Amino acid sequence: MAFLKKLAFIGAGNMTEALIQGILKASLLKADEIIASEVSQERVAYIHQKTGVAVLLKNTEAAKQAETIILAVKPQAMEMVLEELAEVLSQDQLVISIAAGIKTETIEKQLKADTTKIQKIQKNPKNLPVIRVMPNTPAMVGCSATAICKGRYSSDEHLKRAVRIFEAVGYVAVVNEELMDTVTALSGSGPAYIFTIIESLIDAGVELGLTRDVAAGLTIQTVKGAARMMEETKEHPATLKNRVTSPGGTTAAGLHALEKNGLRNAMIEAVIAAKNRAKELG
Ligand SMILES: NC(=O)c1ccc[n+]([C@@H]2O[C@H](COP(=O)([O-])OP(=O)(O)OC[C@H]3O[C@@H](n4cnc5c(N)ncnc54)[C@H](OP(=O)(O)O)[C@@H]3O)[C@@H](O)[C@H]2O)c1
Repeated sequence: MAFLKKLAFIGAGNMTEALIQGILKASLLKADEIIASEVSQERVAYIHQKTGVAVLLKNTEAAKQAETIILAVKPQAMEMVLEELAEVLSQDQLVISIAAGIKTETIEKQLKADTTKIQKIQKNPKNLPVIRVMPNTPAMVGCSATAICKGRYSSDEHLKRAVRIFEAVGYVAVVNEELMDTVTALSGSGPAYIFTIIESLIDAGVELGLTRDVAAGLTIQTVKGAARMMEETKEHPATLKNRVTSPGGTTAAGLHALEKNGLRNAMIEAVIAAKNRAKELG
């Protein structure tokens, strides 16, 4: 079946805005190859004006037209959206969900067929390919850490298609679905942990006499620089750390204070606590 559009976004909120911008910037698709739908009239106008993409008020109209459909509404709205879409989607379309905590199995079940046509479900259930994705907020600046997993009916080709889309806004890792709660706890919540570390370093600089602007500028660049060094040198973090730690020097004294105050343990426990919470919420 020939589709009019390559990609449809259902829900045109913050993530959709970031993804459309990333996709256009990376020249992965042109604005006229994308469509979106949204409930808020204000958002319809805003996204169209900002990106040039057509935005409709009817989810089914947008979904019918595209090869790949990205579900980008809040998890609470998913059940209603899936009920609508089950009536119009077909097996030659790919469904990608970015909703936190919702399993591919749940989506596959809800898309099996139009729930109002029970007879049809039993005779001819639809097995739609579904891919689940967990991006994080730096997607807004083209620097997302995204994990992707396959559902039961999706192929390697579907996976590749999803990877290409999310690589337009950053780094992508493919994982098994059992690890999605871990991903949520590590990279989903991760920006908040790093913001807390950045805030603490800035406060320390201010306490020791720097202006807030200077302390912030130095801290942000230090965090960016350290991440980039690891990315480019591919060295183990301990090797890079040891290289700036001279015997009896300032860094050694600082690192000792971090160990005494349990920074490592605090970080590990943060990720474990977030994972347990993700499991509870799921
Ligand atoms: N933001 C993140 O960092 C992040 C990270 C990972 C995953 N996610 C997931 O990404 C999804 C979207 O997040 P977001 O931050 O982009 O949320 P958002 O800004 O609230 O976007 C959702 C959009 O969908 C609209 N909407 C609500 N019900 C709808 C419906 N029935 N049909 C069509 N549109 C509808 C909302 O309109 P109203 O505002 O008028 O309701 C809103 O504009 C969520 O499932 C979230 O779990 C987000």
